[in-house]
Amino acid sequence: MRPDGSWTGRAPGRVNLIGEHVDYLGGRVLPCAIDRFTISTGEPAREWEVISPVADGLRFVRAVGERLGAPPQRVRVESNVPPGAGVSSSAALLVSVAAGLRPDLPGAEAALACQAAEQAARGVMVGVMDQFAAALGRAGHALLLDTGSLKYRYVPFPASVLIAVVDSGIERDLADTPYNQRRREAESGMPRRRRHVESELRRVDAFVAALERGDLAALGRLLDESHASLRDDFEVSTPEVDALVARAAAHPGCLGARIMGAGFGGSVLALVEAGREGGFEAAVGRPVLFCQTADGAYVG
Ligand code: GLA
Repeated sequence: MRPDGSWTGRAPGRVNLIGEHVDYLGGRVLPCAIDRFTISTGEPAREWEVISPVADGLRFVRAVGERLGAPPQRVRVESNVPPGAGVSSSAALLVSVAAGLRPDLPGAEAALACQAAEQAARGVMVGVMDQFAAALGRAGHALLLDTGSLKYRYVPFPASVLIAVVDSGIERDLADTPYNQRRREAESGMPRRRRHVESELRRVDAFVAALERGDLAALGRLLDESHASLRDDFEVSTPEVDALVARAAAHPGCLGARIMGAGFGGSVLALVEAGREGGFEAAVGRPVLFCQTADGAYVG
């Protein structure tokens, strides 16, 4: 914060490599912060005012500002994190504001405040993964987070693997999806939902082990298995996304692919061998965002 009370904060979007729909159950997740950023600048004002390309920017900014005890602010938001595409534009927005207003906070505390703000702003009982990745992701690494204890460690991510995010074009606001319902079903122990959660947790551990021994083929297999589980047991995929995953996985350079994030549309994550990505976008027939890992707002 500058002496006149004005401030700037910057935070990245995220991908989740694996560990889907387990972060509100205390499970392990493996996201990376990516090199797409939201920058917020602000100064004290009489009322909350937000100029933002992100829908509902005012509600989000105000929710996090108030949670951090800030007086009303006039905030301008710029972002190249595509909204509604499953790379957490909302977490990037919230964490950019937190980092601008309270750069002194421990990153984990900022992430928790942003999670609470997101839950309050739109009534979706999200876990803490996205905000944590935007705050504490690290370039060159994936972030292995235990959402039960909030302990985390960094796992090197190989430069020989490209992270491809394929936008399904099915934009959705999480508030209009059965996200909260899936959460309740999993919490109440519904057998198929639990089967996804338990198998996904094993896949997170297997994925970390595969990263650590450089077994790229195993990474791909685990993504494919995660997709099947999210489709059949957790039921958060759609036929269009299934078709996109199949097209991505059929490309010769693709190690594996799956629906990413909350689901119900959004985006597909594919891991592609560097140097073999030629023709990937044409093969899937949708816009592809090739991303690098990046530092979170509270790192570096
Ligand atoms: C959304 C939520 C996260 C997480 C994922 C599913 O991105 O914001 O907390 O639950 O869905 O893994």
